[in-house]
Amino acid sequence: MTIPAEALVTGGARGLGEGMAQALAAAGASVMIGDVLTALGRDAAGKLSAGGAKAGFVQLDVTKEADSHAAVEVTLRTLGGFDILVNNAGIEVTALVADIDPADLRRMLDVNIVGTTLGLKHAFRAMRPGGAVVNISSVAATIAFPAIAGYSATKSAVDRLTRVAAMEAGKLGYGVRVNCILTLPPKSVFLAEWFNASKESGNAEGKDDIDEGRTRRPSASPPTPLCSARRSASIRRRATRRPIRVR
Ligand SMILES: NC(=O)c1ccc[n+]([C@@H]2O[C@H](COP(=O)([O-])OP(=O)(O)OC[C@H]3O[C@@H](n4cnc5c(N)ncnc54)[C@H](O)[C@@H]3O)[C@@H](O)[C@H]2O)c1
Repeated sequence: MTIPAEALVTGGARGLGEGMAQALAAAGASVMIGDVLTALGRDAAGKLSAGGAKAGFVQLDVTKEADSHAAVEVTLRTLGGFDILVNNAGIEVTALVADIDPADLRRMLDVNIVGTTLGLKHAFRAMRPGGAVVNISSVAATIAFPAIAGYSATKSAVDRLTRVAAMEAGKLGYGVRVNCILTLPPKSVFLAEWFNASKESGNAEGKDDIDEGRTRRPSASPPTPLCSARRSASIRRRATRRPIRVR
């Protein structure tokens, strides 16, 4: 699959974000990595460049509106376009409900919800028709699991945010698609065992949403936004960039 597009991956300095940046670059996209981790982010972008991709790094704290706006501007300037936003930056602080620290909860709300929303906002304002936004949620948005109440709530919010944003983008004619990936932990033997045990006892809430085979056999490659981005690349127009009017 070839994606001749320009992409910004938030939280792309390491982990799944770095994997998705690599997958996009391997598919032919130019990739800007945005992250709070400067050294790791530069390193990740350097690896993409060394592999032949057009790539760069931008310092980005997704919770700050000025940063989100600047990251889009730098992407446009450096890569010459902006077709794909992977809203991947996210944090998880686990705690039983009885032990939740409000400061941790607010940090998750800030990064996972405010950060994702600001990314969408500035993508809608800058993206040309045919663009795509891929929000990284989590399977935690659909299941009950001990100690993830706060995280699960923020990822459920990303799912709802995605639906409303996609509807707005469609109804208001932005020409930008918005999707959400409910990512599974890449190596989740623990999760698979927990599901099997829960299934036997009939207590696995949301078990029908989970492909247990996948939890046992993690994919060799990280979850990628390629499927979500593909259509945008295929319908990408050569039209001049038309700023989308957002009131
Ligand atoms: N790893 C998993 O098992 C898993 C499962 C489901 C969903 N997810 C989701 O996938 C995404 C990536 O997770 P990961 O496991 O690779 O995590 P990770 O901690 O390895 O990477 C997250 C990246 O986001 C960056 N980041 C954090 N706060 C930021 C901010 N304010 N501004 C910009 N960047 C910021 C971090 O510096 C880091 O590079 C997250 O949204 C996470 O919730 C992960």
